[in-house]
Amino acid sequence: MPKTTLLPLLASGEYCSGQTLADALGVSRTAVWKQLNALSDLGLQIESAKGRGYRIPGGIDLLDGARVRAALDATAAGLLSRLALFETIDSTNAEAMRQVALGAGPGLVCSAEQQTAGRGRRGRTWVSPFARNLYLSVVWEYHQGATALEGLSLAVGVAVARALATFGLPAVQLKWPNDVIFEGAKLGGVLLEMTGDAAGTCQVIVGVGLNVAMPGAAATGIDQAWTDIETISTGGRPGRNDLLAALLNELLPLLAGFEQLGFGPWRDEWLALDAFAGQPVVLHTGAQDMAGIARGVDKRGALQLETAAAGVQSIFGGEISLRPAL
Ligand code: BTN
Repeated sequence: MPKTTLLPLLASGEYCSGQTLADALGVSRTAVWKQLNALSDLGLQIESAKGRGYRIPGGIDLLDGARVRAALDATAAGLLSRLALFETIDSTNAEAMRQVALGAGPGLVCSAEQQTAGRGRRGRTWVSPFARNLYLSVVWEYHQGATALEGLSLAVGVAVARALATFGLPAVQLKWPNDVIFEGAKLGGVLLEMTGDAAGTCQVIVGVGLNVAMPGAAATGIDQAWTDIETISTGGRPGRNDLLAALLNELLPLLAGFEQLGFGPWRDEWLALDAFAGQPVVLHTGAQDMAGIARGVDKRGALQLETAAAGVQSIFGGEISLRPAL
């Protein structure tokens, strides 16, 4: 019995007796008890009450392919070739890459309840607890090499912001190149990986991580200010299946049109969401740090960094942080 077989029975948040669980699954009470322990090991809070049974306080909204598909618009539904949902995976980007190696093509989407080796940018780990956040990877194929894809990761950030806006959530901002932030705290991140011919036909894996309801215990592994959808929601937070569908409604058409349209149509929106516009920043490239003023991005998605020594320079890689006031 997979460790999460019990979950759909407890997902509502209502109490369920040990006997009901055992009968529903056709297993012994001891087997149920072991499974409940396995769920606790996943970081889920299992509450027990004498005479009532077990429950997950607040319930849990598991990923459900049928519910995601039902919430897709016609364009996204037409561009989605396969939605592969996993309980546990090392990394949805790694899985998408493996699927590409096996011949998967554009429109494959991999998502998982949990990642055991979630990848962040610049070699970081992406904290990926079970059934609380969203982790997804979308595969697309391009034919004109990597240069035609300049600015794609920034456009993905805009697409994520657009998807969140459809739920009436407070407006998020973007931090170059593509962090999704709210009041300075990180809400989501984007990791693009590429395989194939960098000068010709290549496949891009667009990985998006979105903090939805990050458990405090898991967040101890995050080394920067963070937030989640639950915290920023003013009403009830949207469900994960609806959020996943909204992300795909924006991402799939963006990916399908990008080779032809490029970053140009996305630039104004990116600039309007730029959290660091006109601010003193430090650019970290690995090789060196450069201090300057962030002046937005050009039509290729390059950061425009103004320094006293060199005027405005175009920067293609690296990470910025706010420069502390002296
Ligand atoms: C960042 O560092 O800001 C990028 C984080 C990207 C995380 C997502 S979660 C889904 C996909 N799979 C991964 O292993 N990473 C990306």
